[in-house]
Amino acid sequence: MKLQILLLAGLLVASCCSAADILMITMGGTKSHKIPFWELAKGLVPRGHNITFLNGFPADFTLHGLQEVTPSGLVEYIRNYTNWDLLGARMRGDLPLSVWDVFRYPWQICDATLEDKETMDLLGRKFDLLILDGAFPECALGLVYRLGVPFMYINTVGFYTGTMALAGNPTPYSTTPAFYRPLTDDMNFLERVSNTICRMFTETLIVPTMMMVQHMVRRHLGSDVPSVWELGRNVSFILQNGQASVTYPRPLLPNVAEIACIHCKPAVALPKDLEDFIAGAGESGFIYVSMGSSVKAANMPDHLRKLLTQTFARLPYRVLWKYEASPALLTDLPANVKIGRWLPQQDILGHRKLRAFVTHGGLLSMFETVYHGVPVVTMPVFCDHDANAAKASTDGYALKLDLETLTTEKLVRAIHKVIHDPKYRKEAKRRQILLKDQRSTPLETAIYWTEYVIRHNGAYHLQSPARNLNFLQYYCIDQILFFIAVVYLMRALTRLYLSPKIVQLTKEKLH
Ligand SMILES: *[C@@H]1O[C@H](CO)[C@@H](O)[C@H](O)[C@H]1NC(C)=O
Ligand SMILES: *[C@@H]1O[C@H](CO)[C@@H](O)[C@H](O)[C@H]1NC(C)=O
Ligand SMILES: *[C@@H]1O[C@H](CO)[C@@H](O)[C@H](O)[C@H]1NC(C)=O
Repeated sequence: MKLQILLLAGLLVASCCSAADILMITMGGTKSHKIPFWELAKGLVPRGHNITFLNGFPADFTLHGLQEVTPSGLVEYIRNYTNWDLLGARMRGDLPLSVWDVFRYPWQICDATLEDKETMDLLGRKFDLLILDGAFPECALGLVYRLGVPFMYINTVGFYTGTMALAGNPTPYSTTPAFYRPLTDDMNFLERVSNTICRMFTETLIVPTMMMVQHMVRRHLGSDVPSVWELGRNVSFILQNGQASVTYPRPLLPNVAEIACIHCKPAVALPKDLEDFIAGAGESGFIYVSMGSSVKAANMPDHLRKLLTQTFARLPYRVLWKYEASPALLTDLPANVKIGRWLPQQDILGHRKLRAFVTHGGLLSMFETVYHGVPVVTMPVFCDHDANAAKASTDGYALKLDLETLTTEKLVRAIHKVIHDPKYRKEAKRRQILLKDQRSTPLETAIYWTEYVIRHNGAYHLQSPARNLNFLQYYCIDQILFFIAVVYLMRALTRLYLSPKIVQLTKEKLH
């Protein structure tokens, strides 16, 4: 088997392009940021490329040809930072993360990462390409500069537009909602006003944070490193975690390709214990509940846990619940509920008897639910969850609930509604068909463009000069000001030199 794989890899290498050494980096604070990188790596390794992947989550399993580097400074920083109770904060109506926490993350994590010897050792190696996470890439841009090679982004938080805008892609306030707000691309006047205020607030707040990141980069990598903005503009290609049928139709430059659902795959049979549990419900089927990997269900406040178990007890379905605690600690678990620390989410979503998915609304979960055509009840918690939920509700396959005002009654009703109102499943299936109707799979697309950048040693010919213009220049405001100034000057000159003569001429005529 191994030999066959090696032979196959050899053939592919011979047919494709020279094998490359690729360094992938994500500084995202949640494990889901790793997934698109993993999937791309799994596609690249059989084609002969060597992948080194720096991230903050020690590997659960290994893949031949992929070396994971998890500097202990980075790992520890993330562990400290994410020991949070996001659900509790959201239910109290607080900000899940304080403005200070949002502000400090990028530069503190940069410091923790660059201080680590494991990171610095990478600078002694030779790479052909770097692939960075479009979320918090600025610190790694310092490494890009030191290694002197082309780089790409995987924009993991698909609704985050910062890196896209810096590369020159249009992201007008009128149709591009802030990634952390419950808004869509179709906003009324007041929503547009609120969106503009939020976007301007974020774009202002990000400046001092980035100055701090830059300070850290220069402290560890040398004072000659250019500014993080200048480095970021030089991106060769962006693999965008979106797809017009599940996110929004947007104007994208030719150095952007959409790869939403790069990790989606058809369901395979479930392990026997899960299958037996589901079969126990007969034809009434089951629902699946997961708040993802970032939210840490086991940290949830007790009253929310009680609310959920009371809800599940009232349902005529079996319930599979991703919950990271031992069943022994949950003494009040109803008989129709089975919990698991880790559950094969896509195999569950693709199961014939699944009736609905109750989710926090993480982007990857939303893509998976569309891929498998399952209606959802969403309870957004933080980051892009609200924006994801807003889009899914607009598309008609999701019902959104507010954690702040959640009751057993509301949750029971919402679950029944997405199951019994055929509209939800119909719309999920419709989006599923649209998502799958593509010329090539997202993985094929991602591999093609990665190798394209390697073949041409960067894709600088695809970059738009828009990336070098500032706001005033891009929207021609400098020109408008110039024209106004010219008109004003001409009027002033006319008044000064011509008017007295005209007055004189008129006076002479009158006499
Ligand atoms: C990949 O890594 C292995 C082991 O580090 C090395 O022997 C090999 O030459 C590398 N291949 C490429 C294409 O860089
Ligand atoms: C993590 O927290 C511990 C205990 O508060 C602290 O000693 C340690 O320095 C922190 N680590 C990082 C990388 O921030
Ligand atoms: C962009 O990156 C390439 C490769 O590192 C480098 O040669 C080039 O000078 C960079 N361009 C700018 C404007 O920074």
